Amino acid sequence: MTLFDGKVAIVTGGGSGIGEAACHLYAREGAKVVVSDLNEKRGNEVAQAIQKMKGDAIFVRADVSKPDDCQAMVDATLEKYGRLDIAFNNAGIGGETNLTADYSIAGWQKVIAVNLSSVFYCMKYEIPAMLKTGGGAIVNMASILGQVGFENSPAYVAAKHGVVGLTKNAALEYSKQGIQINSVGPGFIRTPLISGLEQDEQVRNHLISLHPIGRLGESEEVAELVIWLSSEKASFVMGAYYPIDGGYLAR
Ligand code: NAI
Repeated sequence: MTLFDGKVAIVTGGGSGIGEAACHLYAREGAKVVVSDLNEKRGNEVAQAIQKMKGDAIFVRADVSKPDDCQAMVDATLEKYGRLDIAFNNAGIGGETNLTADYSIAGWQKVIAVNLSSVFYCMKYEIPAMLKTGGGAIVNMASILGQVGFENSPAYVAAKHGVVGLTKNAALEYSKQGIQINSVGPGFIRTPLISGLEQDEQVRNHLISLHPIGRLGESEEVAELVIWLSSEKASFVMGAYYPIDGGYLAR
């Protein structure tokens, strides 16, 4: 018996990094997985990899910064599988790095659209779909930078703080109707998102030094928490923010 037998899960940004790892874990636990991403090639590869392991998955292209794409993603899920039980709203970008006064307006708007507005758009369409079958679970991707600042990343920090607040609000509204809504806050995780930073040894060592554990995190470590928060094992966890950060926030 697996955790998600008969259940259907959407993962945005499922074509890479933490989202990809979560797709595989949902499939391992018996869920039918809707791998969604902007990147068609990567998203299709992840869905096919799951199918090869005898799992059930489809790829649905969506740009989560566009409300219509988010609606179409949920509609495609209902059309294919007839229900929606779990959503991991994970897609995101690092975006421009600059001091606040030097940050471009376009850069700000892009990061807020992809990292924050997307979570609202996704929930707006996922929640009614879940209510049709009596509830579900939503995990929203925040960051340690949903709790503390990081110089040169004003838009990212604002967006991730926004995700934490939006998650609390939605949980207040829907927990009585059977939807458990929470957010996760990873420290720096070794994915393509930070590969640019990692290439410079000095920067890499600095990032590592911010984590008391003495290393960066792995996608699978984050995915394990996401899976737990998506399951009935977390049935009393509502509107919470869960750091998973090698001790970053403990300082
Ligand atoms: P990644 O770059 O490996 O994967 C992100 C995925 O999102 C990619 O497949 C990309 O195509 C997709 N994506 C980007 N913009 C999109 C859009 N507009 N619509 C749909 N899909 C889009 O990155 P990673 O690290 O796996 O990041 C996943 C999430 O985790 C992001 O929200 C990120 O902010 C967050 N995060 C990552 C940390 C890290 O250190 N890697 C730390 C804390 C949070």
